Amino acid sequence: MNTFVYHNPTRLVFGKGTLERLSDLVKPYGSKILVVYGGGSIKRNGIYDNVMQQLRSIGAEIHELGGVEPNPRHTTVNKGADLCKKEGIEFILAVGGGSVIDCVKAISVGAKYDGDAWDIVTRKAEPKAAVPFGTVLTLAATGSEMNSGSVITNWDTQEKYGWGSNLTYPQFSILDPESTSSVPKDHTIYGIADIMSHLFEHYFNHTANAPIQSAFVESLLRIVIDAAPKLIADLHSYQQRETILYSGTMALNGMLSMGTVGDWASHNIEHAVSAVYDIPHGGGLAILFPNWMGHVLDAGVPRFKQFAVNVFGVDPAGKSDRETALEGIQALRAFWNSIGAPSRLADYGIGDDKLDIMVDKAMINGPFGNFMKLDREDVRAIYVSSL
Ligand code: NZQ
Ligand code: ZN
Repeated sequence: MNTFVYHNPTRLVFGKGTLERLSDLVKPYGSKILVVYGGGSIKRNGIYDNVMQQLRSIGAEIHELGGVEPNPRHTTVNKGADLCKKEGIEFILAVGGGSVIDCVKAISVGAKYDGDAWDIVTRKAEPKAAVPFGTVLTLAATGSEMNSGSVITNWDTQEKYGWGSNLTYPQFSILDPESTSSVPKDHTIYGIADIMSHLFEHYFNHTANAPIQSAFVESLLRIVIDAAPKLIADLHSYQQRETILYSGTMALNGMLSMGTVGDWASHNIEHAVSAVYDIPHGGGLAILFPNWMGHVLDAGVPRFKQFAVNVFGVDPAGKSDRETALEGIQALRAFWNSIGAPSRLADYGIGDDKLDIMVDKAMINGPFGNFMKLDREDVRAIYVSSL
């Protein structure tokens, strides 16, 4: 195991009815509050009215920024940062999925930065201060509610990058499973694919003696694989929403990757696709991840065999390790197909015409990936096998 320090300051408030605690949680942070949300789902499912009523009950001066895009744009971040500066905002409340939360993370540091927040995303400038923020999560997927990461897109240059800072942990996050019950089927599937992908990114590592981390990830994957079809069959199942919501947070709050070094190549490859085509992140991962697995298999056949046996229950009897490993990858494809996840870039109308542009974008910082270092030809091959 590698040495590690784990510190996560986010107060996690989880469970039925916890949305009602919002006003108490916000109160200590001041009265000038910016509420940030997406394209309107919170107005249709009643969460907006509930949030506003609670903020009014504590006498808050409420400002709003709606319309945050899925794959949030740096222009929206700058709009939010300007609003914070102009109005002297003391606290920002993100109400939505990963896109809204990621946008708020960038607004929070952009509000204390004299310039374009894109400088912070591209790491040209280091954030020195932030407006504190909290979240009301409405979609299980990214884990952004309990980590410091944020992913922002510059649509002018078609670039999409992840960044983060110790300043960008939410002060609190409210996770009420009922807030996720209106997520439509497609975004529920994308969320599940994203959660599983975060677990894969942790799992495919070469760290010696990390049996605890492996067992945590394997058990979480088995739980998601059990719950996902039940949820897809009954999108209003409180029990399955609860399981998937908690899985999503645990999959990327740092707890499962303590002492190990994950891979993260597939995320980089996907971000380059959604930078050019604006597709949902989880949909892209469902297409790309099995092809990454097939491409890097020989960099760690024993690990893929362990995955096949411990996660998908593949019987290794009478098979070579490689055959067992391949069956595991096949089982993942079959599982994602069974819940209705996309499997080819063609499912989003993507052909090979911008392949080189995507490769260039993925390669912007040179070869990447920790389980196996990928160069241009590797990345190209993974895209080609995903067409
Ligand atoms: O915009 P609204 O109208 O709210 O609709 C959203 C959006 O269209 C809708 N939605 C959310 N909650 C809903 C709902 N619809 C009905 N009922 C609800 N309760 O769902 C759509 C997708 O929302 P979005 O926030 O874009 O999805 P997600 O949470 O998957 O976030 C995706 C973004 O997060 C980044 C991705 O790259 C992408 O930009 N990621 C962030 C990470 C992080 N910060 O740690 C890690 C991830 O790997 C990922 O890269
Ligand atoms: Zn992801």
